[in-house]
Amino acid sequence: MTQTPLAPFSERALLWFDDYGRKGLPWQQNITPYRVWLSEIMLQQTQVITVIDYFQRFTQTFPTVESLAGAPLDEVLHLWSGLGYYTRAKNLHKAANQVMDDFDGQFPSELEQLETLSGVGRSTAAAIRSIAFEQAAAILDGNVKRVLARHRGIEGWPGRSATLKQLWAAADDFTPNDRSRDYTQVMMDLGATVCTRTQPKCALCPVQHDCIALEYDRIDQLPGKKPKKIQPIKTTQMLVIQTPDNGIYLYKRPLTGIWPGLYSLPEIDQEDSVAGFMRKQFSLDSKDYTVQTQAIKDFRHTFSHYHLDISVSQVRLLTHAVRNVSEITSLWYKEHDKPNIGLAAPIVKIVSSLNVKPLATKA
Ligand code: ADE
Repeated sequence: MTQTPLAPFSERALLWFDDYGRKGLPWQQNITPYRVWLSEIMLQQTQVITVIDYFQRFTQTFPTVESLAGAPLDEVLHLWSGLGYYTRAKNLHKAANQVMDDFDGQFPSELEQLETLSGVGRSTAAAIRSIAFEQAAAILDGNVKRVLARHRGIEGWPGRSATLKQLWAAADDFTPNDRSRDYTQVMMDLGATVCTRTQPKCALCPVQHDCIALEYDRIDQLPGKKPKKIQPIKTTQMLVIQTPDNGIYLYKRPLTGIWPGLYSLPEIDQEDSVAGFMRKQFSLDSKDYTVQTQAIKDFRHTFSHYHLDISVSQVRLLTHAVRNVSEITSLWYKEHDKPNIGLAAPIVKIVSSLNVKPLATKA
């Protein structure tokens, strides 16, 4: 059986655009470089639905780049208020003045020149060139990164330069020489409406048949996520203090802080001495117990903001003659009694990993 070869990516995307692409947005009417630039800056970090009103107010107040450049910055900031990311508004005003001063009031069409304008990066320059001047130029905004990472199966977080390089290569590769305005728009539309971050509508996608992520079931994994920040490591020393008949000393943690209200092992700093704690807490000295320290790497507990490396010192009492501890905030825990108390997660792990065979009591 012979299969009809697929049409090029851009052809399939453009056919879809003719039927389903967005065509009635305010900046798609009366297209001028000024209106395209203004809309692209507004759309950099803000959704279409929010931008519409602002775009209309801006173009009414400042119908030309000259009027915007000549306005006081305060007036621009005032009109921008509510759109957020105010650096964009400052850059907007500055770029309007650059167009007046450096380009005689006419927006340039070359990427290199567009990129000299404040607030205009590589992708925004390409959007302006393709939409306003109908010249081929590859765009790569956040939505387009998602479309291409999935379609080409490009692994890695797009913030990594190696990944970004591959994404730009794919964007360049797919960009056609004609219908530049529509092609830029369809890439944005596919990213915003079909190839969405969650629950993409792959069945409606015009480029589904050679989408690598779809074929290999990697839609949810692509594009790659930003690597997690390395979390700080804190250390502590926990003491497993055992009576000759295997009762383990636990105390109830306060209701604030970590493990609120749960029972836990007593802790001291890693460099502090067990002897000091035993003297203070139980009035015992070193002839009354033996001490054994476990390897610390065995116990790492990870919280949302840090790792806790726990070294465990096992203290085996050689006497029953321990000072009574308060019934309310502490107890001698025996696993087989199954006491009805809440234990912090690492405590369960530590206690169940220890050798709890009773020692002979000292005569
Ligand atoms: N996001 C950035 N540019 C856009 C445009 N021209 N249309 C819709 N969404 C966009």
